[in-house]
Amino acid sequence: MNILEFKNRKTGDKSERVRKLSLITCYDYTSACLASQTSIDALLVGDSLAMTMYGHSSTLPATLELMAAHTAAVVRGAGDKMVIADLPFLSFRKSLSDNVNAVALLMQAGAHAVKLEGAAGNCELVQHLVQSGVPVMGHLGLTPQSVNQLGGYKVQGREASAAQAITKAALDLEAAGCFSVVLECVPSALAREITANLMIPTIGIGAGPDTDGQILVWQDLLGLNTDFTPKFVRTYANGADVIRAAIDSYVHDVREQTFPSPKESYE
Ligand code: KIV
Repeated sequence: MNILEFKNRKTGDKSERVRKLSLITCYDYTSACLASQTSIDALLVGDSLAMTMYGHSSTLPATLELMAAHTAAVVRGAGDKMVIADLPFLSFRKSLSDNVNAVALLMQAGAHAVKLEGAAGNCELVQHLVQSGVPVMGHLGLTPQSVNQLGGYKVQGREASAAQAITKAALDLEAAGCFSVVLECVPSALAREITANLMIPTIGIGAGPDTDGQILVWQDLLGLNTDFTPKFVRTYANGADVIRAAIDSYVHDVREQTFPSPKESYE
């Protein structure tokens, strides 16, 4: 899928508006190879990797260099899947030239688009990037890079004024040229209204059923998280049990001396 096909899922002719968009986060080469063999529409190298891959308690420790390295690894395995890379904390809040250099690093790592959080103070940059040939995805609602400002990981836009602010931010990002907007942890009714008011696809995570697409974090979808599962997650496999059982079987076979067998040994 390319950027035009992505947008056409919402505004293309009837034959292109065939199905909702399905996205998943992806952080490494092996996972990208697996994802490339599925019907997933696009992969996001999310800055959530700071938490899922490195064990941090927020996304703030994700650096540009880390994002570029993981993006390059994902791109190598992604085949023809579209890869979107997150601009990490503060990397796009500097001078225009520093911001452009940050974006260049991710695009030259092979990303097909970048994602940035928030609208206030970002629209000029979005416009500049789009005019420079870089597709940009927005991200509103619960924006994890602002967790310290938001006072925690909470549903956003419950009050009328907050809902209005998110709606306006979505319209501003669309006007600036974003090709899509992620809506994270907002009430379903707000996501529905924003989706109806935008020409670009909305991608929901904890935003109810009426967005133009959905995204889930790799570890959440596959049941690899052993500590906390947010309310909005549906787990499609018990990956943790499968992996633990496989490792225990291996340990058992080594201890029982049934591995390696002659078949698995060189004469
Ligand atoms: O970093 C991430 O995983 C994200 C998704 C939650 C949308 O931004």
